[in-house]
Amino acid sequence: MFPVRWKSRVRGAVLAPGVALMLALLPAACDGPSTYEDLSGEQIYSRLCLQCHGEQGRALHGRGGSYLGKRKYWTRETLLEYLQDPQAYKRKAPHLSASRYMPPLNRHVPPEARVRLADHVLGLMDALEPDRR
Ligand code: HEC
Repeated sequence: MFPVRWKSRVRGAVLAPGVALMLALLPAACDGPSTYEDLSGEQIYSRLCLQCHGEQGRALHGRGGSYLGKRKYWTRETLLEYLQDPQAYKRKAPHLSASRYMPPLNRHVPPEARVRLADHVLGLMDALEPDRR
């Protein structure tokens, strides 16, 4: 009996890392255009941006990217362009830092949902303007 049990235990040990990896990848694998179609700008922001920028856009953990005083740099159009490819847009926007990294927006977010997201971000910037604080 002993060799049989030994064998199955070894197989279990080999399988485990694969299963753990699958579970880790599952949320990303489930992300598709339909994930974002029905979400508001605020909900998309909570899902993809809040962990770095904070609920009000004041930035978290010293990671940079505070929206304070930034409203004057952005329109809906430029913001959409920036979110698509932050590294490329940086060359046109001298106020952005050369060393800080902002990841491109999840490619599954469809165009209309991007507009809702951009409008939410502009709203956060508006709310941080001195006359609104
Ligand atoms: C991993 C952290 C991280 C995530 C996630 C992230 N950002 Fe950023 N973001 C940054 C950093 C860091 C900067 C500053 C980049 C710079 O100065 O070049 C930044 C800059 C910005 C700016 C420019 C602010 C300015 O100075 O004018 C905007 C707008 C912005 N992010 C929006 C978003 C949106 C919307 C999302 C979600 C789709 C998002 N970010 C997700 C880290 C992040």
